[in-house]
Amino acid sequence: MTPHIEAKKEDIAKTVLMPGDPLRAKKIAETYLENPKLVNSVRNILAYTGTYKGKEITVMASGMGMPSVGIYSYELFKFYDVENIIRIGSCGVYTDKLNLYDLILVDASYSRSSYAYNQNGCTDDTLYPSVVLNDKIINTAKRIEFNLNIGTIYSSDVFYSDNEDINELYQKYNCLGVEMESFALFHNAKVLGKNAACILTVSDNLITKENASFLERQNAFDRMMILALESVL
Ligand code: HPA
Repeated sequence: MTPHIEAKKEDIAKTVLMPGDPLRAKKIAETYLENPKLVNSVRNILAYTGTYKGKEITVMASGMGMPSVGIYSYELFKFYDVENIIRIGSCGVYTDKLNLYDLILVDASYSRSSYAYNQNGCTDDTLYPSVVLNDKIINTAKRIEFNLNIGTIYSSDVFYSDNEDINELYQKYNCLGVEMESFALFHNAKVLGKNAACILTVSDNLITKENASFLERQNAFDRMMILALESVL
């Protein structure tokens, strides 16, 4: 038990899939896990542990933004001995070359967040996922024939920003798009010697202004779930 998680240590698997939304965590658990058991509901940050093709997996929500994912991923890595966290989230993209529902595997997270600095004085503006996890995800995508875009994402602290230059982020910093959690997740994995990765489904295109409808989102997120689950077997 920690200040934010009521689960018993043995009720959390070594590998955690982490969507932002608690209801998505519930849906994933009910759809894909055998014998899912609710192991956390503090603040409605739902976590379920069950098995997928015999492998024990926990699906737990992160909430939105770096402070939230920072708390949960830190506690899971540090106090629950979790080894792997794969964030499965959504993102907005900065290019019309990417379409709604495309899958992105993050290979670098660029940020102006103070999360890493405030956590341990780290001044890096770019943090990286686990090469081992990313290789597994890339190989799984090939095996199950899912097209995967791989690149840098901008990890922002602000959803409604009037001060972020999309062109600069795309052209100068090579960011394909924006989400709000990977930088803090990668930082925690780094300082605690653990593995993190981040798979994203494009839910918004900030150039064409398209965004995903609720039903379409559901199907697209199904593909991301299958990719994540098959990658950790
Ligand atoms: N901004 C930040 N995070 C996001 C977005 C966005 O436009 N879309 C999905 N996650």
